[in-house]
Amino acid sequence: MGIINVNIDKIYGRASQAEVDALKGEIEAANRMLYDGSGKGGDFLGWVSLPGRIGSEELEAVEACARSLASLADVIVVIGIGGSYLGTKAVYEAMNDSFQLLRKKQDRPLLLFAGQNLSEDYLSELLAAVKPYRIAAIVISKSGTTTESAIAFRVMLSYMQSRYSKDELRRRIFATTDAHTGALKQLADENGFETYVVPEDIGGRFSVLSAVGLLPIAVCGADIDKILAGAAAEREALFAAGLSNDAYKYALYRNAFLADGKEVEILCSYEPALRSLTEWWKQLFGESEGKDGKGIFPASAIFSTDLHSMGQYIQDGRRMLFETVVRQTECGCALKVPYDEADVDKLNYIAGESLFDVNEKAFLGTLYAHRDGGVPSLVVEYERRDEFSFGALVYFFCLACAASAYILGVNPFNQPGVEAYKKNMFALLGKPGYEKEREALLAKINS
Ligand code: PA5
Repeated sequence: MGIINVNIDKIYGRASQAEVDALKGEIEAANRMLYDGSGKGGDFLGWVSLPGRIGSEELEAVEACARSLASLADVIVVIGIGGSYLGTKAVYEAMNDSFQLLRKKQDRPLLLFAGQNLSEDYLSELLAAVKPYRIAAIVISKSGTTTESAIAFRVMLSYMQSRYSKDELRRRIFATTDAHTGALKQLADENGFETYVVPEDIGGRFSVLSAVGLLPIAVCGADIDKILAGAAAEREALFAAGLSNDAYKYALYRNAFLADGKEVEILCSYEPALRSLTEWWKQLFGESEGKDGKGIFPASAIFSTDLHSMGQYIQDGRRMLFETVVRQTECGCALKVPYDEADVDKLNYIAGESLFDVNEKAFLGTLYAHRDGGVPSLVVEYERRDEFSFGALVYFFCLACAASAYILGVNPFNQPGVEAYKKNMFALLGKPGYEKEREALLAKINS
């Protein structure tokens, strides 16, 4: 049994054993490709061994940098997009108090995120908001050329130059990028900003357990050794279980559901702190699987919140959905429904029950309601909101995703479809080299 368990002893809804068995050969092939790199994108398997591969020297450097940043700044602006920020945001939010913004005394800096959009309002508001605070920035881009993060970094650098000396900037700005190439590497070297490396053989969305995620996560006070220990323990458990491991089971069942016409998977959690984890998961699976006209569309929901918005559709709309619930199995259980003499709200029947247990009943009730409504479910369980569990969860989903993409027959590690919007945007912005595209696009727009 791994740290993360896919509860498939009971499948809630359709996907017969025969449908799953039909995919057994595919999982064997996926497993082989993940071991020997013979599959599509086989040069990008560095994450498979990553938890045990990070050297103590690199870890100490990351931790020292995090301590220094934490002592210098109240707010750290993390600049990046896609795989260069979603994993960090996911772990940061999952690990932290949902209301930390309201805490007067922060013993660790707050992380804010930039470079993940092109909104003028967002960046202007961020600059205004950080004015009273001591700030620092971590800019992350593997290619070093991504437009959104490059623009945000240029704006942030110019703002920070107006506040800090050159020497001070070197203590406050760090870049995580390719070891040798790219504009960000050049910019960092020219300005004397310390750099961390995105390993060559790890793509953005699989990089959260490298310096990409570890540095900002460490700055906000999470124990990165425990994150890596959780990932390493999960890796060991999964590989020890061989072909019948839970990550492969998850990959198998989601593909069996797809074969049964369930084209949309909703990743749900009953913990609001996991909202960003569901966003990271959507990118992981969406960018890895959605290509060549194939793929399960990844959607997400936080329950019971979204049962009051999406619940109607899930229960009763088009039958193309299945659900994967990421379920927390332990809690402090200290907050109970109070007893009230008058009982006007008629809640005394659950007086003394912990909120955790009430949430559990919502989970189970929903699971069976959705099953009866034709929405099958899988359940992925983790123990509690701590570093060990989240390291394990990240590793579990990365392995499941790569295996699932290989079952589908696509390259899990590229994202050719992302280029189309960029080409049009560059053409419209008049980027040198895009003259022909500009002409063609303007002709289309004006026709
Ligand atoms: O998963 C991926 O590879 C992408 O989402 C990238 O992380 C994203 O496009 C950002 O790229 P970069 O880190 O090169 O700026």
